[in-house]
Amino acid sequence: MIIQHHISLKNYNTFGINAYASKFLTINSVNELREILAKESDVFLLSGGSNMLLLNNIEKLVLHINIKGIEVVKEDDSHAYVKVESGENWHDFVLWCIENDLGGLENLSLIPGNVGTSPIQNIGAYGVEIKDCFYQLKAIEILTGNRCIFDKPECDFGYRNSVFKNSLKGKYVITSVIYKLTKTNHKLNYSYGAIQSELDSRGITAPTIKNISDCIIDIRNSKLPNPKEIGNSGSFFKNPVISTKAFNQLKSQYPNIPSYVISDSEFKVPAGWLIEQSGFKGKRFGDAGVHAKQALVLVNHGNATGKEIYELAQNIQKKIKQDFQIDLEIEVNVLS
Ligand code: EPU
Repeated sequence: MIIQHHISLKNYNTFGINAYASKFLTINSVNELREILAKESDVFLLSGGSNMLLLNNIEKLVLHINIKGIEVVKEDDSHAYVKVESGENWHDFVLWCIENDLGGLENLSLIPGNVGTSPIQNIGAYGVEIKDCFYQLKAIEILTGNRCIFDKPECDFGYRNSVFKNSLKGKYVITSVIYKLTKTNHKLNYSYGAIQSELDSRGITAPTIKNISDCIIDIRNSKLPNPKEIGNSGSFFKNPVISTKAFNQLKSQYPNIPSYVISDSEFKVPAGWLIEQSGFKGKRFGDAGVHAKQALVLVNHGNATGKEIYELAQNIQKKIKQDFQIDLEIEVNVLS
């Protein structure tokens, strides 16, 4: 294991922020991870770098988690339990599932990032969240180096949320995740409007998991910027949940406001719609901007600093509060 010094993190975070790590170490196995944690526990964990905004250089030892491997660890007639190591790219893993005709994650095609961080924010898209297929994960406790197992209830999954963003934040390194996937009778989920119309336009009436994945790849490519071409971290904010009373007031002002019912007393409204109404969609301030096709995504047009992106986010939050009396919560992990 060789520690490198003064390494640019530009290619290690999908926002493409040119922050530097004073010390940087790539970790290729659980044993390597435990060996380094025994010497140094004040570390900065870097996985796919797809859900972070770096405001400053990192003065701690950066551990780049690059543990690879995909393996079926158990199966019965209907399900396969697939153990995937944390350094595998998420989308490559989804494609592996589709090639092996294992169903459940196809709606999560093309989400940037690595497998190890998928449970932290319970990644989700097009009506599916990873919690729907999650079985178990293995992790190392940073302070002790102990190996631990977390079953689903212990992860406390919520909307873009889990125990690893709350009481256990920064305490564990997730090293592998087991997903429980269907071998037959796949439960296809194409209720999300855009998927059905995409299938219709291709004349597909009995879709396979591959058909669904292909449609989602096309939908995402049409709306969301590819981080390899333009730096971004997907949705920058969460979709806010507001009271029915507040929603009804908004609805009377904006009859076309899109919404999802959460409960008798709450509605979720798309942050992208609010940001578009506030006039930010497609706007650019230096190299920090709001994506022209999906206002929920903030972008780095080239050389924006983390602080510039964050300043734009704060200006958006202020304007949304002023225009709609709604507090927008940042979804991306902002690291100061
Ligand atoms: N909308 C606008 N203007 C915009 C963007 C959206 O009016 O600029 C409207 C759309 O017309 C639609 C509604 O807002 O009526 C919802 O838009 P969309 O279907 O694009 O989904 P979203 O709620 O903005 C969420 C996830 C995305 C995920 C999509 C599809 C969150 C924070 N974001 O976005 O996740 O891909 O649904 O399921 O829940 C991510 O987390 O990085 C991400 C991309």
